[in-house]
Amino acid sequence: MRPIEIAKDVYWVGAIDWNIRDFHGYSTYQGTTYNAYLLMDEKITLIDTVKKEFADEMISSIGHLIDPKKIDQVISNHTEMDHSGGLPRIMHRIGEDKPIYCSQMGFKNLSKHYHQKWNLRSVENGGELSIGKRTLTFLETRMLHWPDSMFTYIKGENILFSSDAFGQHYAGLERFDDEIGEAIMPHALKYFANILLLYAPLILKLVDRVKEIGLAIDMICPDHGIIWRKEPGKIISSYVEWSLQRPKRKALVVYDTMWHSTEIMANAIVDSLGQEGVDARPMHLRTCHRSDIMAEIMDAAAVIMGSPTLNNGLFPTVSDFLTYMKGLRPQNKKGAAFGSYGWSGDAVKLINKEMEAMKFELIDPGLRIHYVPDEEGIKACHELGKKIAAALPSQ
Ligand code: FEO
Repeated sequence: MRPIEIAKDVYWVGAIDWNIRDFHGYSTYQGTTYNAYLLMDEKITLIDTVKKEFADEMISSIGHLIDPKKIDQVISNHTEMDHSGGLPRIMHRIGEDKPIYCSQMGFKNLSKHYHQKWNLRSVENGGELSIGKRTLTFLETRMLHWPDSMFTYIKGENILFSSDAFGQHYAGLERFDDEIGEAIMPHALKYFANILLLYAPLILKLVDRVKEIGLAIDMICPDHGIIWRKEPGKIISSYVEWSLQRPKRKALVVYDTMWHSTEIMANAIVDSLGQEGVDARPMHLRTCHRSDIMAEIMDAAAVIMGSPTLNNGLFPTVSDFLTYMKGLRPQNKKGAAFGSYGWSGDAVKLINKEMEAMKFELIDPGLRIHYVPDEEGIKACHELGKKIAAALPSQ
């Protein structure tokens, strides 16, 4: 890709990964981008790099503007390798002794990742760096979403380089929010649900801190996806809304099935929920990707989990999903379990245990049906649906 000037003398020099479909377990049906930014100033400064495989593409993009050797310094906002993977190639090219500015944890983490004698310089939270016409400010954002994460901010021009925050996994030729419009929001939501949900309380604190210090923001440049220049406030207020995790009258019935019995139960529960005016849908775990289910869970008041009992335990996809969801710690959820069984029938008990560990409020002890549901069994599923509906908010 050629560089794109996103503000005067500020260039996007990233790469588009059109083909990635699995980003460490997150489904990226529409690819992603790795955004790196070049500040043309007295000290030519590169902010973040790209995934290792795209390093030459980034260097070639920079080559349209300057000889890459002229880069004076690099800022690493985040150590994760989709943003630091290009460092070995770029440092080799510009000179291993050139400074790399990073947070204190970035100092440790870059050392642990690359084991190089680079000129790493840790910066303080709120620390400043003059690069000529511009002064950069560093804002530590520890655990958003790694210990090393930080933001870099250009004072005066009010441009925030926000690392992973406010990003989206979306590959496209659009570089700005005004070029894509509302269509980007589901990607931003899914990204939040799968990368940042766990840190929702920290996000609320960070937004308060930004308000407290009166940080003016005219443009947000994340490390993935489009840049927010038309309405940077919109993605910030969406983050606040998503962090609050306000439940709606919505329930997801997440399940897997062996011989369709648990599926029959899932569909009957959804049918009953629908009749009670609940926004409900079944999500089969071998049809729907776990990361898509997490996006749907964001505004759901209830997660109803179904699993057949397999070898006295949970069906493997159900275990997988429960592990994934538990790690992301969704808040304010109610839950219930169901499933068909042949002999031990432990799956419902095991789901309940996981839901309790996630602090879900259990609506019902759970519904087990021996082998294939009969008319009575279907009726019991409908009753469970009604009970769930009665426990949900009215809107
Ligand atoms: Fe996009 Fe945390 O890396």
